[in-house]
Amino acid sequence: MNNTVRLTEWAEERGMEYHRALRLAKRGHLLGAKKVSDNWIVAEGAFVLEPPPAGKDARAQIMGKRLLHPRLPAVRASIRGRPIVITTYNYAGGSGKTTLARDLAVLIAAAGSRTLLIDTDPQASLTQWINDEVHASRPGLERTVHVTYTSSEEVPPLPDPFELDPQLHFIPSTMDLATLERYLHSDPLQIANLHDAIAHAGSGYDLVIIDSPPSLGQITVGNVVAADYVIIPVEGSAKGLEGLVSLIKNLAELQRLKSRSLRERRSISIASLVPTRVESRLSFTEKLNAALEQVSQKLFAPLSPPLTARPSAYTKATSERTPLPLLPRRNGAVREAADELRAVAKFVIDQVVQREREAHGE
Ligand SMILES: Nc1ncnc2c1ncn2[C@@H]1O[C@H](COP(=O)(O)OP(=O)(O)O)[C@@H](O)[C@H]1O
Ligand SMILES: [Mg+2]
Repeated sequence: MNNTVRLTEWAEERGMEYHRALRLAKRGHLLGAKKVSDNWIVAEGAFVLEPPPAGKDARAQIMGKRLLHPRLPAVRASIRGRPIVITTYNYAGGSGKTTLARDLAVLIAAAGSRTLLIDTDPQASLTQWINDEVHASRPGLERTVHVTYTSSEEVPPLPDPFELDPQLHFIPSTMDLATLERYLHSDPLQIANLHDAIAHAGSGYDLVIIDSPPSLGQITVGNVVAADYVIIPVEGSAKGLEGLVSLIKNLAELQRLKSRSLRERRSISIASLVPTRVESRLSFTEKLNAALEQVSQKLFAPLSPPLTARPSAYTKATSERTPLPLLPRRNGAVREAADELRAVAKFVIDQVVQREREAHGE
């Protein structure tokens, strides 16, 4: 472990009572803490993981709705002074990026992590779907990441987010954000602005989830530069598999760009490949799984459980401007989709935690 401090110092720096910090460390909830002979030491970048509540039917609350607890640990990365950043990544439109960003953010926030969700797609689907209030307010460029990218300040600002819930904030997009592509082309030095703004947003958020446009343009590049992890939704069809390898090769190039522009050694990890809109016709599913397993192994990209194609449930979510996990579970398709989403959220968070543990040499 590099750069460690004693637990007493760590707790004092954060204004945490030593006994609370010790309890967290002893229970294994302080990721990056280690007992060396008789002393607890804590690595730089350590954060707290609180397990989900006990009891089968525990409930959570988010955006004014009660829901079945997502059964994820609450990641409290804000304690280390910067959040964990995850971005959706796939140039294919319709692969399920926006759906996944929306629903993961809601589940992660409901589990107790302070979450910031950012729409960077000029098509602004997420902004139209997230809730009535955001949609009705028709946010302008001044509420979007345009503010961040066009700033010449050393620490670029984030725009004022919508507070969907005390645990879940949202930065919208608008069609005019399309102009950002040209802007970032002409001034490539600004590409790390979103990264810098988030890194300096300090202890405000535990996790940031960024939804990318369906292209490999400069906005996507900026999102990947800002990210610690990418999740790659893959449409469960022959079309979905095409281009997957080149997509991941492109990620390696972006990694080099990131290292150059930030002088950061730690690489961007693929938190998971997520099969989406998977038709349940058995023969095709088997073929798809085999192909995905192959890509997954070749590229060290963990493969999550699938999201089955359930058009009625997902259409209901978009037409009611309600993230799917918040729709009433009376409807069978909604219930099944929500349970699959919970499994994917758990998979993604488990992968992130595992990678973070590895980074701490645990
Ligand atoms: N599992 C699913 N089953 C059925 N429809 C889905 C599913 N996931 C997403 N959709 C729908 O597919 C469309 C494209 O998804 P979207 O999340 O917008 O993809 P992207 O952001 O990659 O373009 C949306 O209309 C969405 O409601
Ligand atoms: Mg989208």
